[in-house]
Formats: sequence, structure tokens, C-alpha cells
Amino acid sequence: MLRKILSIMLLTYSLPQFAYTENAARELQASYQAQATTPFSLDAGRIKWSQEVQHKSGGTRSCTTCHTTDITQPGKHIKTKKDIDPMALSVNKERYTDRKKIEKWFKRNCKWTWGRECSAQEKGDFLEYLLAQ
Ligand code: HEC
Repeated sequence: MLRKILSIMLLTYSLPQFAYTENAARELQASYQAQATTPFSLDAGRIKWSQEVQHKSGGTRSCTTCHTTDITQPGKHIKTKKDIDPMALSVNKERYTDRKKIEKWFKRNCKWTWGRECSAQEKGDFLEYLLAQ
């Protein structure tokens, strides 16, 4: 009996925490979906991730410029040269836990990389890709 109570307690304590990680990103996706034209796709996210965009300062930029193509590996900030933790959720459980953080970086990084904000469709596709790696 005691064991049963203990295991139920363990479950209720660990479950919400576990669910929280994906929830932040999944909640965002749900809010993006209303403004998107097609269901979010892992493949579309992967293609956009390495899509090279011409920048007005010359040269091209993509998300991989700092985060690299193998997102299970650490990246490096092209300007500050600081290491960036891996983006793949499978190797970095601290990713995508906070809606505000995700939104803040989408905004900043889309502007820096593509010279504009990303659309709801693009952000949803990115998350589909990032959460699956
Ligand atoms: C100039 C370097 C740079 C480029 C290019 C870049 N990022 Fe980032 N990104 C960062 C840094 C720095 C952080 C914040 C530090 C961290 O979370 O490790 C970050 C964080 C993020 C996060 C937050 C992840 C979380 O844990 O919540 C997302 C999402 C993200 N980037 C998406 C993108 C996308 C999409 C692109 C391409 C459009 C992109 N980034 C291009 C540097 C970059």
C-alpha cells in the first residue's frame, strides 16, 4: 500500500515537470497554427533551418551560421564567438521550456538572419524540426 502511494506521489511530481518542457513549445505552436496556412512540418523546418539568405551587408546568413547544421552539437555565435548549447531537445532538456524566451529569440534571430521577423508558419515549422531532433 505504502509503495503504491509512493509511486503515485512520484508520478504526480514528475509528470507536470516533464510535460512542461514540451508544453511551452506546443502551446506556442497551437497559437501560431491559427495564423498558418498548412500544418507544421519537420521537413519544412529543416529546409528553412539551413536556408541561406542574402544579407544587405554582403554574404549570406542562415540559422546554421550560429547553431550549425547538426543541432545535437554545440554552436558558436558568429560575432561574439561564444559557445551556444545544442538546440536539439533530445540532448538538451533545457530547451523550449519558456514561451517568452522562445519568442524573444525567434524575433531577434529572424531579424538578424533573414532581415525580417519570421511568420507564424515559419516558427511553427522550426519548432516541429527542433523538437524532433
Ligand atoms: C547570430 C547568431 C545566431 C543566429 C544566426 C541564430 N541564432 Fe538562435 N540563438 C542564438 C543565441 C545566442 C541564443 C540564446 C542562447 C541560447 O539559448 O543558447 C539563441 C536562441 C534561440 C532560440 C531559443 C531556444 C530556447 O531554448 O528557447 C530559438 C528558438 C532560436 N535561437 C532559433 C533560431 C532560428 C530559427 C534561427 C534562424 C532564423 C536562429 N536562431 C539563428 C544565436 C543565433
